[in-house]
Amino acid sequence: MRKLYSFCSSCALLFLLLSRLLTFGAYAQNQPVDAAGHQWWQNAVFYEIYPRSFADSNNDGVGDLNGITSKLDYLKKLGVDAIWITPCYPSPQVDFGYDVSDYENIDPMYGTLLDFDRMESAARQRGIRIIMDYVINHTSDRHKWFLDSRSSRDSAHRDWYVWHDPKNGGPPNNWVSVFGGSAWQLDPQTGQYYYHAFYKQQPDLNWNNPEVVKAMVDVTRWWYERGVSGFRLDAVDKLFEDPDMRDNPVLPGKNEHGDPNLDEIYTSGLPGVHDVLRGLRKVADEHNAVLVGETWTSNIQELRKYYGEHNDEIQLPMDFMFAMVNKVSASSFRKQISLVESSGGWPVYVISNHDIQRSYDRYGDGQHNDAIAKLMAGIYLTLRGTPILYYGEEIGMENNDPTRVEDVKDPVGRVNWPVDKGRDGERTPMQWNNRPNGGFTGGKPWLPVPASVTTHNVESESKDPKSILEFYRHLLALRHQNRALLDGEYVPLNQEDPNVLSYLRRYKDETVLVALNMSGTPQKVSFDLATQGFPSAKAKSLLTTLQTEPASLSDLALEPFAVYIAEVSK
Ligand code: GLC
Repeated sequence: MRKLYSFCSSCALLFLLLSRLLTFGAYAQNQPVDAAGHQWWQNAVFYEIYPRSFADSNNDGVGDLNGITSKLDYLKKLGVDAIWITPCYPSPQVDFGYDVSDYENIDPMYGTLLDFDRMESAARQRGIRIIMDYVINHTSDRHKWFLDSRSSRDSAHRDWYVWHDPKNGGPPNNWVSVFGGSAWQLDPQTGQYYYHAFYKQQPDLNWNNPEVVKAMVDVTRWWYERGVSGFRLDAVDKLFEDPDMRDNPVLPGKNEHGDPNLDEIYTSGLPGVHDVLRGLRKVADEHNAVLVGETWTSNIQELRKYYGEHNDEIQLPMDFMFAMVNKVSASSFRKQISLVESSGGWPVYVISNHDIQRSYDRYGDGQHNDAIAKLMAGIYLTLRGTPILYYGEEIGMENNDPTRVEDVKDPVGRVNWPVDKGRDGERTPMQWNNRPNGGFTGGKPWLPVPASVTTHNVESESKDPKSILEFYRHLLALRHQNRALLDGEYVPLNQEDPNVLSYLRRYKDETVLVALNMSGTPQKVSFDLATQGFPSAKAKSLLTTLQTEPASLSDLALEPFAVYIAEVSK
C-alpha cells in the first residue's frame, strides 16, 4: 500500500514536471505582444488572494492552497487572468506571513509544495497565472539567516542584516518602525541593535551586501522554474537606509502610534532600490514574468521612477494615490487619472487590499453602497491599465472590524487600540454562500464573517442578474473582448462637470464611451463628440445600470451613481 502510494505520488510529480516543460516553451517566448504591442500582463486582470481567508479545504479555520485550487473555476468565470497570493511561505505568522522564515517552501498551514504544484498546474490549464508575494525588505527573526546573523558579531550572516552599535546607551538614531516605537532592537547577546522597519520580529535585510542580493535574486529563479509568472514586491521603498545613520528630520505632531512625525528621507525611497529592481527585472524578463510593486508614493514623479528610467524596473507599480482618493468625486478621480495618464507609465489601478479598509465601506455612503460598488468597478475596470481586484470586492464585501481588543488578531491593532483597530476587518473570510461562516470553512474561521454574508455572497449573487458580482462578470467579459477597453487611448470628456466623470476609450475605429454619475442625485449630461470625429454620434449600450436605454447622447439622464458604458459609432 505504502509502495503503491509513493509510486503514484512520483507519477503525479513526473506528470506535473512534464506538463510544465511542455507549456513552458509557450510562456518563455521573448515577451510576445498583441496587435497593440501589449504584453500579457497589460491585458490581464489581476486578483489578490489573502490565502488565510479565501477557502479552507481541511476545516481548520484557515484557508489553504487546496482551497484556492478548488475555486479556480470561480475565478476563471469571473474573468481573472492572474492571482497574486499574499505570502504562503513558512512563517511564525507574527505579521501573517509577511515574516518569512523560508522563501523556498510552503507553510504547512497552507499545504505543501506538491499542493502548490497542483494549484499552479490547475491554474495554468485554465489560463490563470500565479504571482507570488515577495517580502524583500526583511525576513522573520526565525529565518536561518537571521538566527546565524544574531549568533555572534563575526557569524557568516552577520552583515546580511543592519546592525549598529548603541549611541549614548540607546538606539543608534531616531528612526521609528511603521508599526510604532523605535525601529531598533537591542540584541543583548552581541550588544548591538538591529534595524526593523516593521515589527521587531522582521529584521531588515542589508541590501548593500552582494551576498544578500544574490540570494534574494536566486529565490526568484527558483520560483520561476516552478512555474510562477511574477512577483508582487513588498515594501520596496524600504530596502535601503542612510549609511551615515542620520536622524530623520522631525516634523510637527505625532503619528497614530504616538511617535513623533518624521520626514523619512533617510529610511524611505533611497536610490539604491532602483539597482535592486533592475536586477530583479532582468531575471523576470528572462521568464516573461511581471513585477508588481507595493509602491506607496505621494506624487506622480515618485511613482514614475519605479517604472525605471528605461522602463527596466517594475512593470506594474501600484498607484495607491488612486486608492487614496477617498471620496466618490468626479473631479478628484479625473485629476488623478490625468496625472497617471501624463506620466507615460502603464497605469495600475487598485481600490483596496489587505492593508486598507475595504472599498465598499470607504466609498459607500451607507445608502447606495451596492450602486457605488458597481460605480467603482465602472471606473477602475474601464480605464487604460492593469486593474488588481481584492478578493471579495466583486461581491461587495464589507469591513468587519473587531469591537473588542481581545478579539484583535493583527498585532498592530492590539498595540494601538482603539485608535488603530488593525487590519482584521478587511481580511475576513470570503463569503461563498449564506451557510454558516459563509461556506468558507466547516470549522471555526480565524476571523468572523460579517452579517452581510446573508445577502453578499457568491451563491446568492450568482442568481441575481442585478448583483454586484454579475456586474463585475459582465464588465470583465466586456473588458476582455473589447479592443477599445483593452488597448484604447483615454480621452477625457466634459472636464468641467463636477458630478459626472466621462471619457472615451479609442482604439483604431472602435470607440467606447464611459459615463459615471459620481453623485447621489440624478444628473443630465450632454456629449458633443463632433470634435472627436462623430458629428452625429450614435451610441449602443454595452453595459449599464440604467433602467432604460437612453435615447440620445445629447440628453443623457443618469440616475444616482449610475454607470453607462456604450459603443459609439458615426
Ligand atoms: C506590506 C504588506 C503588509 C505588511 C508589511 C510588512 O506593507 O502589505 O501587510 O504588514 O508589508 O511586511
